[in-house]
Amino acid sequence: MGPDELLSLFDFHPPAARRVDRVLAGAHTVADLRRAARRTLPRTIFDFVESGAEDEVALHRNRSAFDAIALIPRALRGVGRVDTTTEILGIASSLPIALAPTGLTRLVHRDGEPPVARAAAAAQIPYTVSTMSSVPLEEIATAAPGPMIFQLYMLRDRGVCRSLLDRARAAGCTALMLTVDSQISGLRERDLRNGLTIPPAIRPRVLLDGVLRPRWTWDFLRGERIAFANLAFAADRSSIVEDVARQLDTSLDWRAVSWLREIWPGRLALKGILAAEDATRALEHGVDAIVVSNHGGRQLGTAAAPIDLLPEIVAAVQGRCEVLLDSGIRRGADIVKAIALGATGCLIGRPYLLGLAAAGEAGVARAIAILAEEMRRTMILLGASDLDSLESHAVRRAMP
Ligand SMILES: Cc1cc2nc3c(=O)[nH]c(=O)nc-3n(C[C@H](O)[C@H](O)[C@H](O)COP(=O)(O)O)c2cc1C
Repeated sequence: MGPDELLSLFDFHPPAARRVDRVLAGAHTVADLRRAARRTLPRTIFDFVESGAEDEVALHRNRSAFDAIALIPRALRGVGRVDTTTEILGIASSLPIALAPTGLTRLVHRDGEPPVARAAAAAQIPYTVSTMSSVPLEEIATAAPGPMIFQLYMLRDRGVCRSLLDRARAAGCTALMLTVDSQISGLRERDLRNGLTIPPAIRPRVLLDGVLRPRWTWDFLRGERIAFANLAFAADRSSIVEDVARQLDTSLDWRAVSWLREIWPGRLALKGILAAEDATRALEHGVDAIVVSNHGGRQLGTAAAPIDLLPEIVAAVQGRCEVLLDSGIRRGADIVKAIALGATGCLIGRPYLLGLAAAGEAGVARAIAILAEEMRRTMILLGASDLDSLESHAVRRAMP
């Protein structure tokens, strides 16, 4: 009897391949993938992915803001083929979607980032590698050759940043995304209550969690220690999160953007812009794109929802740079709303992590496919055959 069969006795799951088939058979929406992920992950890890900062007001607002937008279809427009192709940060994409950077993906699935990068490449959409990835960026690049985006957390030691950028370029990252909303970590209180440490330590709560989710625990116990694989200074310590936190530069200001603009020859994006004034300031610093984002509600506990601020930001930049948006996208219709309000593309975070947890690479592929199909259906129903014909009069704030 192999480990998979043995585990099946405990958590009533059939062996891995059949389990994936069963999960996929029931996964028609991102919410279905979320339910499957919840059955797979220990509570501590599920909460790490799902939770928001403080009272999670921003987290919930991200969803309610999308729901508050109503769509107004145009009749009899004769939509034949729907064209969703575009370019994101200079990378051709089959959809106006890139996968957002998420750190420590091996917490969610034993193989970490490579299956995510492969699923993105197969779907012909860009993947963003995080500074905090749990597999070295070179290995991720080897898993899925082709252009990628590299996300940078600016560290105090600019030498470390510079060498990260050199490595990212050499590995095939053609665009850089500097995250500007995270110079201190948001207070995710579920993590505090759960006693989550990185790497997870065996505490009573985690032990109980692990017994209830033996497949994850088995992978975790057999796998290499989970760490920030790109950051040598944090590789072998017990308190790696504290080490990295000390490296985050809270005094970061616009000079860092000028510095990056000088040393990075490719496209440059700032992720975490919410104020229209900052969007125009980014333009003055030669930035090619901004990501209107509240980090999925994980940083500032009561931040505004990006989709609410999008129209004023689009008005401020007047087409002079790409405007990407993330935080709260769970449906293809959410992407359509963002594009109609002037975004040039979207990033998605949790939907693909939940897919990964539920069914590995196939789960990531399913998350992307669900959003793509929902988008296509929404566009036909709206009477829009391509992204340019998604006009702002297709969206209204719903009447209360
Ligand atoms: C588990 C997790 C880890 C994340 N890690 C990073 C990161 O390393 N760098 C970063 O810029 N953003 C990170 N983010 C934020 C995402 O890039 C993105 O802004 C957010 O997930 C979008 O919201 P959504 O999850 O509702 O789609 C992370 C988000 C999650 C859920």
